Formats: sequence, C-alpha cells, structure tokens
Amino acid sequence: MFCCCIFLAVSLLHSLCHFHVSGYGSGCTEHPVFTPSALVVKYGDPANFTCVVCQKDCSEDVFGLEHAVGEVTKNGTTMFWTVDRLTEWDISVECYYITNIGDQCSSTLNITIYQPPESVSISFVNHTGMMFENQQYTLQCSVQNVAPVQNLTVTFYRGNTALGHLQSNSEEKKPVNETFSLNITPSREDNGAQYWCETKLELGPSGPQRPPVVISEKLPAIVHCESERKKKHKTYIYKLLVSVLQIIFK
Ligand SMILES: *[C@@H]1O[C@H](CO)[C@@H](O)[C@H](O)[C@H]1NC(C)=O
Ligand SMILES: *[C@@H]1O[C@H](CO)[C@@H](O)[C@H](O)[C@H]1NC(C)=O
Ligand SMILES: *[C@@H]1O[C@H](CO)[C@@H](O)[C@H](O)[C@H]1NC(C)=O
Ligand SMILES: *[C@@H]1O[C@H](CO)[C@@H](O)[C@H](O)[C@H]1NC(C)=O
Ligand SMILES: *[C@@H]1O[C@H](CO)[C@@H](O)[C@H](O)[C@H]1NC(C)=O
Ligand SMILES: *[C@@H]1O[C@H](CO)[C@@H](O)[C@H](O)[C@H]1NC(C)=O
Repeated sequence: MFCCCIFLAVSLLHSLCHFHVSGYGSGCTEHPVFTPSALVVKYGDPANFTCVVCQKDCSEDVFGLEHAVGEVTKNGTTMFWTVDRLTEWDISVECYYITNIGDQCSSTLNITIYQPPESVSISFVNHTGMMFENQQYTLQCSVQNVAPVQNLTVTFYRGNTALGHLQSNSEEKKPVNETFSLNITPSREDNGAQYWCETKLELGPSGPQRPPVVISEKLPAIVHCESERKKKHKTYIYKLLVSVLQIIFK
C-alpha cells in the first residue's frame, strides 16, 4: 500500500513536471489559442490559421510561432499563418510566449494533411472465373496512394448489401498503398450479383463537409451449385469412359 502511494506520488510528480516542460508552467495563466482549433488540409491546398498568443496584457512578453513552412504576419499578440500550397506530410506548429519570469506557455496545432485514394480496385485472391457455392473465396480491395490511411474505412459490397468494414492499423501519415481482404462464401442466390468496394476518408468535423469517397469497379459473381459441379464431374468421367471404350473397341 505504502509502495503504491509512493508510486502514485512519483507518477503524479512526473506528470506535473511533464506538463511544466510542455508549456503548462505555473506562471502560465493562459495558453495561446488557435483558430481553427484543428486544421485538416488536402495535400497541395492553401491553408491558414490564427494564433492569439494571449488575451490579457502580455504585450511585454516574448512570443512567436515555431513553423517549418508558411508565412507569419503579426498584429499585436495575434499571429496569422498562411501557406499557398501545403506540401508537407507530417507537420505541427507551436505557438508560444515566455512570461517575464521565464515560463514558456505554448500550444501545439497538429495539421492533418489528407489525400483521397488515387485508385481503388477489387479482385479475387488467386481465383478467376466462376465460383462454387459453399466454398470460400477471398476478395481483395487494393487502395493506392491514400493518406492518412488510419482514417480510411473500406466497405465491401455485394450489390447494395454491405458485407464488412475494414480499417488499417497503420499510423503512417504519408500516402501508402494497402490491400484489404474479406473472405466470402457465395450461395446460389449470389449468382449475377456484383462485388465492389468503397473507400471513405473520415476526417472529422474539421475535414471536408463530405468525406471523400472512391469506389472500385464492379466484379460480377458467377456462382454454380455444388450439384452442378458434381454433375460436371460425372459428365467428365462419363466422357472419359466413353472415349476409353471407343479406343478399346476400335
Ligand atoms: C483562410 O482559410 C479559410 C478556410 O479555408 C478560408 O475560407 C479563408 O479564405 C482563408 N483566408 C485567407 C486570408 O487566406
Ligand atoms: C490589427 O488589429 C487591429 C485590432 O484587431 C485592427 O484594427 C487592425 O486593422 C489590424 N491591423 C492589421 C495590419 O491587420
Ligand atoms: C500531435 O502530434 C503529436 C506528435 O505526433 C502527438 O504526440 C500529439 O498527441 C498530437 N496531438 C493531438 C491533439 O492530436
Ligand atoms: C496465391 O498463390 C500463390 C502461388 O500459388 C501463393 O504463393 C500465394 O501465397 C497465394 N496467395 C494467397 C493469399 O493465398
Ligand atoms: C503505390 O503503387 C504505385 C503503383 O504501383 C506506385 O507507383 C507507388 O510508388 C506506390 N506507393 C507506395 C507508397 O508504395
Ligand atoms: C483519424 O483517425 C484517428 C484514429 O482512428 C482518429 O483518432 C482521428 O481523430 C482521425 N482524424 C480526424 C481528423 O478525424
């Protein structure tokens, strides 16, 4: 129990220290505020935000904006950042001020850069042509050059029926190619249906009003009955038998 308390105290202290270094110093009565509070930008598009360093009297303080790209203009303690074409994949900016007693007070804005898939296509894994009912096949949706892939939802469809939703585990911020797979066991009724997949980039309330959607081509399903397969098999054996007999009795 005692150990536990020490552990708790230490971890509390640790987190307090952590807060201090990350800018929540005791001398910080307020923190810089970004508008908008989250920035989601399509790769290559223009972007801007405002950072109000502080509302109260802090005009004497040293302040600034750490930024890798873009231009900054200052008006009092308000900073305006703008870029014509955002072409960096993983960026964040830090707005800060340093109080007269030396505390650094800062806020960080992570910028999400997105790119809808360049192409989306559907295929079977190691299979072409017709399928037999009650056998398992694997559908594969191949997505090219999408970012950030962790915000992509892939849905497989048979006609209008959603068969399953898949997401990536990758946290890569740059564009990636990824394939998503789904096992299916067709039934006789699926004959003539079409398989396809849909990808949707879900970027939250700061993202585009309509999440970008890209769909694949349609893949027709030709499903044969198990019995037909047996019948085919029987026909084949029958034909073989006939030809063997023909040879024998020539
Ligand atoms: C800043 O960005 C917003 C949202 O994209 C846009 O509507 C606005 O025109 C931009 N303002 C300037 C000055 O670039
Ligand atoms: C600076 O901000 C003040 C007050 O918000 C405004 O009246 C003024 O026009 C701004 N100046 C520039 C150069 O934007
Ligand atoms: C911003 O990015 C940093 C580093 O990638 C991460 O640790 C932090 O959690 C992010 N903040 C937000 C609000 O997403
Ligand atoms: C597809 O077939 C190839 C060659 O037979 C094999 O190497 C590969 O592992 C198969 N892929 C899957 C996903 O079953
Ligand atoms: C994705 O695939 C395309 C075409 O095969 C290729 O040109 C591109 O370099 C690939 N991208 C990545 C990130 O591997
Ligand atoms: C992207 O997906 C991650 C993980 O699902 C989520 O935490 C994040 O909020 C999403 N980003 C946006 C901008 O919605």
